[in-house]
Amino acid sequence: MAPLARLISRSIKPRREAKTLRVQFSRGLTSQEVFSREDKYGAHNYHPLPVAINKAEGVFMWDVEGKRYYDFLSAYSAVNQGHCHPRIYKALVNQAKNLTLTSRAFYSDALGEFEEFITKLFGYDKWLPMNTGVEGGETACKLARKWGYTSKGIPDNKAKIVFAEGNFWGRTMSAVSSSTDPSSYSGFGPFMPGFELIPYDDLPALDKILADPHVCAFMVEPIQGEAGVVVPQEGYLKGVRDLCTKHNVLWIADEVQTGLCRTGKRLAVDHEGVRPDILILGKALSGGFFPVSGILADDPVMLCIKPGEHGSTYGGNPLGCRVAMEALKVLEEEKLAENAEKLGKILRDELNKLPRDVVTLARGKGLLNAIVINKEIDAMDICLKLRDEGLLAKPTHGHIIRLAPPLVITEPQIKECTDIISKVILNN
Ligand SMILES: Cc1ncc(COP(=O)(O)O)c(C=O)c1O
Repeated sequence: MAPLARLISRSIKPRREAKTLRVQFSRGLTSQEVFSREDKYGAHNYHPLPVAINKAEGVFMWDVEGKRYYDFLSAYSAVNQGHCHPRIYKALVNQAKNLTLTSRAFYSDALGEFEEFITKLFGYDKWLPMNTGVEGGETACKLARKWGYTSKGIPDNKAKIVFAEGNFWGRTMSAVSSSTDPSSYSGFGPFMPGFELIPYDDLPALDKILADPHVCAFMVEPIQGEAGVVVPQEGYLKGVRDLCTKHNVLWIADEVQTGLCRTGKRLAVDHEGVRPDILILGKALSGGFFPVSGILADDPVMLCIKPGEHGSTYGGNPLGCRVAMEALKVLEEEKLAENAEKLGKILRDELNKLPRDVVTLARGKGLLNAIVINKEIDAMDICLKLRDEGLLAKPTHGHIIRLAPPLVITEPQIKECTDIISKVILNN
């Protein structure tokens, strides 16, 4: 075939296929069929627990065969309010009837209302909206660099941001550039310059590195979620605050997973009564409906970024604003921090009674918890047995299982769940 004819035949092929396109609809598929189809047509960038969900409400999920499970992951703490919360659903639908997206080329009546609401709730001057958690982190890093040049006087292109080993803040090039987990960064170099690492929960190391006048920020999770719910010693967050102030460095708190009542307070930093310079929120900010994230900061920091220097087409969209406002109101009005604090204690007390040769440690705060399993035992195998008993959880880092149900869980439900976990562990 002549080159031109070959080109034409290639370019019309998708159209011919489109005419005969047949997609098997999900209704009536078995779990196995759901797994196989994702495996065939989807990229293999996740290793899901084999369970195929098609409905969820509150603390429960149902698979395509109709089996009910307790959700002990909460979509990595995005559904703190419980699945498909009716109030958030209503806010979504009501707004969707009128206006979903303007982009930031125009004003919308929803964005300012949300900005006033969230800044007053958390006590900051300004809000900068984005969508996913990792974009919140990217935004915080950009803002900190800009502040470093325009306010701290760091010479051009010399700004450094310090991170703690074991951090996780997403999958973008910047996020993997600060990662110490080879499965996050291997094969994805070259990496972002100007990122430095120190051990987590190590104030002397922080004091030393912040003395470098080129450091503009220290970004840290108040509890490291993906690293396996690693809780720092009491006083760490207060120490971070004091050292950042001492060295004129911005403290960026990544509360994408720990924030919004998950750890038993509105924010995890509230456990030590401290206030970061930049606060990143995401996940539960929209109660699981769709991505809403952003950062909070005061004017001297936030106003370092000028029009045209940062943004996102969907960031601050009216639908997201209404959803996020309602999601925050639900957290406050249903007193979900208090519930997380109370039921978290019950959960950890029960988990700490489990035999130490299997569960070597149960740790966490509020309803962000993990059990550390004896390295001889396969944590995935325990999760499969939990699934069979009607409870969904996922290992992080091989031998750690995160236990983080929606915060609307009740005391009888948490007791039923600890019975399930104990049964599986004892029969292992
Ligand atoms: C602490 C923390 N920051 C940021 C992120 C990234 O959020 P997203 O997956 O919405 O980009 C995560 C995700 O798990 C997280 O745990």
